[in-house]
Amino acid sequence: MLITPRSTSIGATVTQIDLAQAISHKDFAQLLLALTKHKVLCFPKQSIDAPELRDFSARFGSLQTLRSGQDKTGFPEVSVLSNVKREGKLIGIPDAGQNWHTDMTYNRSVGYANALLAFQVPMRDGRVLGATEFCDTAAAYADLPSSIKQELANATAIHDLNYYWEFMRREKASPRAPLSEVERAAHPPSRHPVFLKHPVSGKQSIYVNPSFTTHIEGMSKEHSDTLLKTLFEHVLMPPYRYTHQWAVGDLLIWDHLSTWHNAIADYGPDEPRLIKRCQIMADRIFTPEFVTAALADSA
Ligand SMILES: [Fe+2]
Repeated sequence: MLITPRSTSIGATVTQIDLAQAISHKDFAQLLLALTKHKVLCFPKQSIDAPELRDFSARFGSLQTLRSGQDKTGFPEVSVLSNVKREGKLIGIPDAGQNWHTDMTYNRSVGYANALLAFQVPMRDGRVLGATEFCDTAAAYADLPSSIKQELANATAIHDLNYYWEFMRREKASPRAPLSEVERAAHPPSRHPVFLKHPVSGKQSIYVNPSFTTHIEGMSKEHSDTLLKTLFEHVLMPPYRYTHQWAVGDLLIWDHLSTWHNAIADYGPDEPRLIKRCQIMADRIFTPEFVTAALADSA
């Protein structure tokens, strides 16, 4: 297995590994460390499908089962992100992730990582479309002015799924229906620290994001809005960014605890994009025994 860092602050390519085969404890330990360090790992040219994607993802934590967009081949942990229609019906979620965010911060149980596998990638005039952008929120934290670090050292913020849902309907003309009362009750706003300590690296990251974070607690709305705007503009600065241009066969895994991501919707409904996804929960990764046992094999 060969891990090659990109020239950008985040991102690495992992080659000489076949994810159709089970991964050894030693390779998994090295991948866990690489994911922590580089935050976005690409495994190109993988010839695998939903079962292998699920098995690989499950090494990192429990997998979330979504209410919609499931892969229809019998793997409820695998969802489909796609604008492709069969018999007039969308086969997956057509507009997932089209704004800067960190997955599942609207839940009490947040996401640890996403693993995505590309089957169809839109192209136009020789140019790849439908890229996914990332920001390194740990590097951004490290460069924050000490006054902001001190002011928000113990601060918490509120995250709300409905805030994003309505943004997508209002600003992005998303065809999604409003969340029902039952769905809203199932996703009450959640509270998380503004700065999150990574369970493997011990480094802090900025853990608020433009899609889900409504406000920082314990201060006026004006001050919260000002601070969030400052943090968001800081994270989006070019040194912290990386854009992944997809190729068919790419398996991409990224660490939500120290990144934001954004899906670029620069392709049309007649330019097919099909990606399968597993969402890995941040359960085992916050269990010290899991991390200790995993890294014991890294030597
Ligand atoms: Fe996402």
